[in-house]
Amino acid sequence: MTPETASSSVAVGNPPVRRLAAWPVADLRDLATEHGTPLYVLDLDRVRENADRLRRAFPDAEIEYAVKANAIGCVLETIADTGLGAECAAAGEVVRALDAGFDRVRYTAVNPPARDLDRVVDLAAEHDIAITIGASDTLDRLAERGWAGELFVRVNPGVGAGHHAKVRTGTDPKFGVPGERAAAVVSEAAERAFDVRGLHAHAGSGILDADDLDTHRALVARMGELTAEIVDRGIDLDTVIVGGGFGVPYRESASPLDLDSLATATCEALGGVDGSGDPGVKLGIEPGRYLVADAGVLVTRVNTVKETPETTVVGVDAGMTDLLRPALYDAHHAIRSLARDAGERETMSTAVAGPVCESADALARGRELAAPTRGDLLAVGNAGAYGYEMANTYNSRPRPAVVALDDGESRVCVRRETIDDLTRLEVER
Ligand code: LLP
Repeated sequence: MTPETASSSVAVGNPPVRRLAAWPVADLRDLATEHGTPLYVLDLDRVRENADRLRRAFPDAEIEYAVKANAIGCVLETIADTGLGAECAAAGEVVRALDAGFDRVRYTAVNPPARDLDRVVDLAAEHDIAITIGASDTLDRLAERGWAGELFVRVNPGVGAGHHAKVRTGTDPKFGVPGERAAAVVSEAAERAFDVRGLHAHAGSGILDADDLDTHRALVARMGELTAEIVDRGIDLDTVIVGGGFGVPYRESASPLDLDSLATATCEALGGVDGSGDPGVKLGIEPGRYLVADAGVLVTRVNTVKETPETTVVGVDAGMTDLLRPALYDAHHAIRSLARDAGERETMSTAVAGPVCESADALARGRELAAPTRGDLLAVGNAGAYGYEMANTYNSRPRPAVVALDDGESRVCVRRETIDDLTRLEVER
């Protein structure tokens, strides 16, 4: 059995990862010709498959999509239709999630600006919104606004996991209240008549290998113990949210996350709440990347091919403004040539560089590619999460268009930004 078919929760035809090689090359070429490049292509059917796989692995959990991974309307509507909830990091995400039809939304308030609290509290008057706080003074700020609804307390778990130091939130004091303060903050919230429902923690992003799994298990066990301590004090908590961070294999050689093992480890670790093996509380998870990463590719065209003593620089029309992850985290994304004769070409080591005037602006370095020529199209894999979402307009580069594939049809769901769009907020010179 290959790693791609090993998980028992996987429905036939729903593999645990969709590799770049599985995308239909001719369709990507046609879409790039029709819509231009750089172009994001998002396969909504794959988003549905990912949601289905998660639901099968965690049948009893409260699953909330971390909207920050990709907040484009067609993606949010697709996920809302699967019945998942939404986890939002800002008022803007809450607005977009509600607009897309999510019935359950949780706002994770990280140093929440007043404007965000105002907006979320307003929306909470009409919608099912819970709030997760990460600092006790957020209680004062919510009380000042007359809100005392469904509340979670984010705990800094003291353990971090993930693909890069910059995404290991679990060890960053910015996030959550220290573990030893958690019970006191929960008690204070309960005394002030907030509807305290549970604890929340997030170790980081990109849990994939055995070490990350150990960290996740430790985090869940710690949250279970803390919950038990608080319940012993007479405060009735009913949910433990153990974060997102479920990784995807960015490297083609990496195995996909074994979702069943993760689910088993999570439930076992949580079973320690009262020592009976029965968690006694509901489990919550909030994956972002897992739902959307392998549902997206970025298609880019080769502008320039330049031989240098060090390497062949392949200049493409997508860069750090379209896909920031390689520049920000040295993240690896698979890249393949979409040229018709790519299979017959020699491979060579290349640097795939974007058009932005920054040396950080490379999608890959030291990457073996079928010898590229000017005009070729390249596809960049696993671009559905934190791709378009982190796109920006540095160097006055308009953001790319996004095309959705949905049940055999394609449609533009975000039009290409124009240079005129870039100045539309300027009011006076
Ligand atoms: N829950 C909380 C509280 C989070 O802070 C995050 C991510 C998630 C859930 C979802 O994590 P995911 O399942 O998507 O890994 N821009 C970075 C990722 C930063 C994530 C920050 N928080 C990247 O491109 O890797």
